[in-house]
Amino acid sequence: MASDSATDSASGSTDPAERVAELRAAIARHASAYYERDDPEIPDADYDQLLRELSDLEEAHPELATGTSPTQRVGGAPNVAFSPVTHTLAMMSLHNAFDIDELQAWYARMQRRLDGRAPERFAVELKLDGLAISLRYEDGILVQGATRGDGRVGEDVTHNVRTISDIPERIVGAPPVLEVRGEVYMKLSSFKAFNDLQIAEAQAAGKEPKLYVNPRNTAAGSLRQISAEVTAGRDLSFFCYQLSVVEGGPELHTHSESLLWLKSLGLPVNEHTRTLTTMHDVEARVEELDNMRHDLDYEFDGVVVKVDDLAVQAELGADAKAPRWAIAYKLPPEECTTRLLDISVSIGPSGQATPFAELEPVFVGGVTVGTATLHNEDQVSAKDVRPGDTVIVRRAGDVIPEVVGPVLSERPADSVRWQFPKDCPVCHHPLVRDEGAAATNCVNFGCPRQIRGRIEHFAGRTAMDIEFLGEKNVDRFVSAGLIEDVSDLYRLDFDSILEMPGFQEKSVNNLRAAIEHSKSRPLGNLIFGLRIPEVGQVNAALLASSFRTMERIMDAGVEDLAAVEGFGPVIAEAVHGWFADPRARALIGRLADAGLTMEAEASDSTAEQTLEGVSVVVSGTLTGYSRDGAKEAILARGGKSPTSVSKSTLALVVGADPGASKVNKAEALEIPVIDEEAFVELLETGELPR
Ligand code: IVH
Repeated sequence: MASDSATDSASGSTDPAERVAELRAAIARHASAYYERDDPEIPDADYDQLLRELSDLEEAHPELATGTSPTQRVGGAPNVAFSPVTHTLAMMSLHNAFDIDELQAWYARMQRRLDGRAPERFAVELKLDGLAISLRYEDGILVQGATRGDGRVGEDVTHNVRTISDIPERIVGAPPVLEVRGEVYMKLSSFKAFNDLQIAEAQAAGKEPKLYVNPRNTAAGSLRQISAEVTAGRDLSFFCYQLSVVEGGPELHTHSESLLWLKSLGLPVNEHTRTLTTMHDVEARVEELDNMRHDLDYEFDGVVVKVDDLAVQAELGADAKAPRWAIAYKLPPEECTTRLLDISVSIGPSGQATPFAELEPVFVGGVTVGTATLHNEDQVSAKDVRPGDTVIVRRAGDVIPEVVGPVLSERPADSVRWQFPKDCPVCHHPLVRDEGAAATNCVNFGCPRQIRGRIEHFAGRTAMDIEFLGEKNVDRFVSAGLIEDVSDLYRLDFDSILEMPGFQEKSVNNLRAAIEHSKSRPLGNLIFGLRIPEVGQVNAALLASSFRTMERIMDAGVEDLAAVEGFGPVIAEAVHGWFADPRARALIGRLADAGLTMEAEASDSTAEQTLEGVSVVVSGTLTGYSRDGAKEAILARGGKSPTSVSKSTLALVVGADPGASKVNKAEALEIPVIDEEAFVELLETGELPR
């Protein structure tokens, strides 16, 4: 339990403000280890010493004292159990609808109860995925924050609620009594930062990090902390969605009016709430919100539809569990648990060894998932998932399925930590992980997976574009020993191929013609196809246009290469190193003998300079250009294509699934956001469409 961080000891910063910040961070960290994980890193006396030093500093520098400082914690000793709070009005749950039919059935039920009259207005809100709390203000002062508990009696978490910056301590213009309800949640960005911090701290301490599973559980766990400074270190947020008790407030007729009023008092109300008049519009909005599910910095797991008219709400009343005037339309779950049958390693086309989970198939995020990536050795280690574990699997939107973490309470007693295999599962050569690198690689140039990978890349649409040579054929030809490197494509034994099952005269002729045709692809495509480290489409095109012939590139020194615009020493070294290998030179010799284009076409650098000096940012997937291809097209016309939007951006081009942050930033800076059609016009004319 020795103190292991410089910030803890007296040897920290001498600047009082910095030292105060260091101490607060250290105290929050130790409090979390002690109270939350039952895993203290320092003795209690050392912890007390840190608190005392902080308290002395705050006394000497009152300007540095804050209400949320650990020294201000109510009661001093962090060992208060939560007191029960009886809710003035029960905190009810919501009934769920799992599809549109159930939503319509809810509407029909209300209509029956209202003797055929139908509710005329609905508030449609996000169903935020966090923890419900009730806040009580007396004369504008926050006096109580309580969890829902069993709906009737909750827990007093006032001390923790006070640390949430979205929740005002004081409300100017509030009535004598005001109780509001809402959701405490954790933003995705805060959750990520928090887990990154766990990794960094564990690394600094030479320990395995303990990662948190999802923002919801982390938010809930954070709010139910004995010690407020733990909560304060968690960056929680809050949205208020329901007025509960009010004494002496304005006369309100609708729920939406009440939200507006709460907003005017300075309480945070979610901006995506809409008031709509027909079920048709409600359904359309549900769909719209569903499509927005991954565009926000927080999670929501459904849409809440509420009858807006308070008199109609009162008429409908509630049953034992939930009000009849509201319903939660649940979106499909994106997380669920299943059994981790085994962890295997797959070898990628460039030799990267990626661990992945073999799962008992499970329906999540709208599809059945049987495998999920585990990214790399450190991720498996940080998550400490083991074969035999029950694990949480997540698939959000189009993102590839991921194993989030184990359910520890269900871990078999005999389970052991998983070890990364020593050898490549394909060629059985030793796997290599470079010092400081995250990835583990098979570095055997002759590994069949890599041979296939190199050929697939070479034949790909953005390289030599060889039709009829799909992954399956490459696999078969490599397995049959017909190809070992890309030059073998140009002396393929078509007679043996014709004898392979599934091949006929016509398919073989098609393939032969496609391979023949590829010989005339431009030099830039050939260079890209060779998969030289650091050389994507853009750099390949730059090499072709700068040196004009393959021979000159092969003979170029590191300095000549570094002089290419946009290249630096790293790229120059990588290119030089690749061409210095006698095997590479021999390969190029064979390709030249086969008659491939080894010189740049005159047109390689003659695109009209329509974008001279301007910046165009591209986001999302375009149909006619790959990511590098779009960039190359901009560069070829004299423009620049940085990865982020700034004041000097001429336009943001968006394809399918663009980055929300880029679009938001462009809108905030009033930079035109254009589609692919307008992009093509922009390339041609240098003009933005009106
Ligand atoms: S209204 C009487 N509105 O969903 C109505 N609840 O399943 C009370 N929730 O415990 C709830 N977003 O934690 C309401 N916009 C929203 C909500 C919401 C999330 C949660 C809340 C509640 C649970 C019910």
